[in-house]
Amino acid sequence: MSNKMWGGRFSQSPDAALEAINASIDFDRRFYAQDIRASQAHVAMLAKSGIVPKSDAKAISDGLGKVLKEIEAGTFTFSRALEDIHLNVESRLAEIIGPAAGRLHTARSRNDQVATDFRLYVRDAIDALDAMLAELQLRLAEKALEHAGTVMPGFTHLQSAQPVTFGHHLLAYVEMFARDRGRFADARVRLNESPLGAAALAGTGFPIDRAMTAKALGFARPMANSLDAVSARDFVLEVLSATAIASTHLSRIAEEIVIWTTPQFGFVTLSDKFTTGSSIMPQKRNPDAAELVRGKTGRVIGALVALLTVIKGLPLAYSKDMQEDKEGTFDALDTLGVTIAAMTGMIADMKPNSDAMKNAAGAGYSTATDLADWLVRDLKLPFREAHHVSGRIVARAARSGVALEDLPLHEFQAEHAKITKAVFGVLGADKSVKSRTSFGGTAPGNVTREAKKWLRRLGRSAS
Ligand code: ARG
Repeated sequence: MSNKMWGGRFSQSPDAALEAINASIDFDRRFYAQDIRASQAHVAMLAKSGIVPKSDAKAISDGLGKVLKEIEAGTFTFSRALEDIHLNVESRLAEIIGPAAGRLHTARSRNDQVATDFRLYVRDAIDALDAMLAELQLRLAEKALEHAGTVMPGFTHLQSAQPVTFGHHLLAYVEMFARDRGRFADARVRLNESPLGAAALAGTGFPIDRAMTAKALGFARPMANSLDAVSARDFVLEVLSATAIASTHLSRIAEEIVIWTTPQFGFVTLSDKFTTGSSIMPQKRNPDAAELVRGKTGRVIGALVALLTVIKGLPLAYSKDMQEDKEGTFDALDTLGVTIAAMTGMIADMKPNSDAMKNAAGAGYSTATDLADWLVRDLKLPFREAHHVSGRIVARAARSGVALEDLPLHEFQAEHAKITKAVFGVLGADKSVKSRTSFGGTAPGNVTREAKKWLRRLGRSAS
C-alpha cells in the first residue's frame, strides 16, 4: 500500500529503513495537545474566512476534541507508518468524521504546522521552567536570610581568599538564576510569533486570516516572512542557550555542594532524602543528586551544539534535517526541570555547619586584606606598600604557626613601627565581613536587606 496521505504519486510502499529513519511519531507525539489546539484555531479561521463550510469546520473541531480525549485516555493507536503527530491526528480524524477531515489541511502544510506546534510547546515549557527557577530562588533566599551572618571562607582559585557570609554566597546564585529567567523571558518574546499560514514555504492563495490564528494561539502577531516562518529554528537555539547557561549555573552550585559535603570541608550536611550510601563502605554519605545535576549539564550543552550543527548548513526553507530539532530539545528541557527540582530539594533541606565554616573562614590568613586596608586607612600607606607590609606580617605569623589576630603586637611593629593595637580591631573573620558594607558587599546587614528584597520580589511574582 502506498502512503495514504500522498499515495497519488507513488506506486511502491516505503522501505522499512525509510520508515525507521523518517518516523518522528515516537517523540513528536509529545506535542499532540499543541497540534490539536493549532488545528482547531486553523479550522475556525478557515470557516470564518469562508474557505471551509461551517458545518465541516464544526465536525472537524469536534472530531479533533475526540482525538485529544483518546490520546489523553491512552486509547489512541500511534502509527509509525503515519510518520508524525500531524498525520496520525489527521488520519484518526478521518476515521472519526469521514471525508470532511480532508478539508483541515487546506491552506497549510506540515512545515508551518510543526513550526507552530513546536513554538507552542517550547513556550509552555519555558513558562514551567520559569516557575521552577522562581521556587529555587525562593529557597535560596530563605536560607540566605537565615544565614546572613554565618561566616564562611570566600575562595578564589579554591584557596581561602576573604571571609564572606553563607547568605551572601547563596544570593550570588539567586542573581544568576534571575538572569536565567530573564534569558527565557527574552527568548519568549521573540519566539511568540505565529508561523501558521506560511503554508509550505510561499504562503497561500486562499484568503486566510493569519492574525486571527495568531491571536487564538496567544501569539503576538503572525511572522512576516513565510520562508522565515517555516525555516527559523533560532527560537529553539535561543531557548537551548538559556537552558545550557542555567544548567551551567546549577552545575556550579552542585559542584560546591559536592565540595562542601566532603568530610574534609564539612560545611554543609545534606538531608538523608538527598544522600545515598555505598554498598560496600558503611560510612559513606554520597551527594549523588548534586553530582548528577553537575553531570547532566553535559547532555544539555550537547543538545545546543547538536542543533546549531544541524541548522548551520540548511538552505531555506524546510529540510527534513529540521526534524532533528526535537529529541535533544525535549531532553534538555526535561533535564533542566529534573535538575532544578533536585537542587531545590537539596537547598531547602541542607544544614550548614556554622562552626566548621567559621573555623575555616579564619584560617589561611583570610584577613590579610583587612590588615592591608587598615594600614592604608589608619597609617595612610599607599595600598601597594601596605600589601608588602601585610605580606611580611603574614609570613611571620606563618613561621610561628599562629593566626594573624594571635600574633603579638611587637611582631607587627617589627614590620612597621607605627602599627598600634588598634589593628586587632579589623582582624578576625567576623570583623572582616562586618566591614564589607560597600554596595553588593558581604556585610550581614547588606545580606539581610538583599535577602528580604528577593523574598518580597519572589513573593510578588509568585502571586
Ligand atoms: N515531522 C516533521 C518535522 O518534524 C514535520 C514536517 C514535515 N514536513 C515535510 N515537508 N516533510 O519536521
